[in-house]
Amino acid sequence: MPEAKTQSQDSKQTDKAIEGLIKDLNEDLAREYQAIIAYTVYSNVLKGAQWMNIAGELKKHAGEELQHALIIADQIDYLGGMPTATPKEVKLSEKPEEMLRFDLDNETVTIKNYRERVKQAEALGHYALAEQLRTIISQEQEHQHDLATALGIDVPKVLGQGA
Ligand SMILES: [Fe+2]
Ligand SMILES: [Fe+2]
Repeated sequence: MPEAKTQSQDSKQTDKAIEGLIKDLNEDLAREYQAIIAYTVYSNVLKGAQWMNIAGELKKHAGEELQHALIIADQIDYLGGMPTATPKEVKLSEKPEEMLRFDLDNETVTIKNYRERVKQAEALGHYALAEQLRTIISQEQEHQHDLATALGIDVPKVLGQGA
């Protein structure tokens, strides 16, 4: 948006907040790319009867993460930003448990971030974005649950009240 001399302090603050939201959504998008890559690779690397079930789940996750990436990129564009083309780093391991642990940790970070993003979107009156983020959060929680179940551990607690 071009700077106008008549622009009020309030609208300058809003512009700044939108810029911050775009920057943070690009971090979310980079995490979605990371998740697509990780689930694509891990689902093919996991071998052995005990991992067959979760390998199938991971393939489904990969498709859902792609849907999330498309939604986030679309929203960044709508807000006037440029969607990033760079994923966050994907860690690799020979050990199935370690791969699942990487995924689980990433999902937990992702959920924390999206909860923060819901608050930012609502503070700016972007309620439709907040709704879309909530739908994504509920899928990320399912991913987290699938991974924790496969690892035989409790679902990690995510700080903050629900979204
Ligand atoms: Fe996602
Ligand atoms: Fe996920």
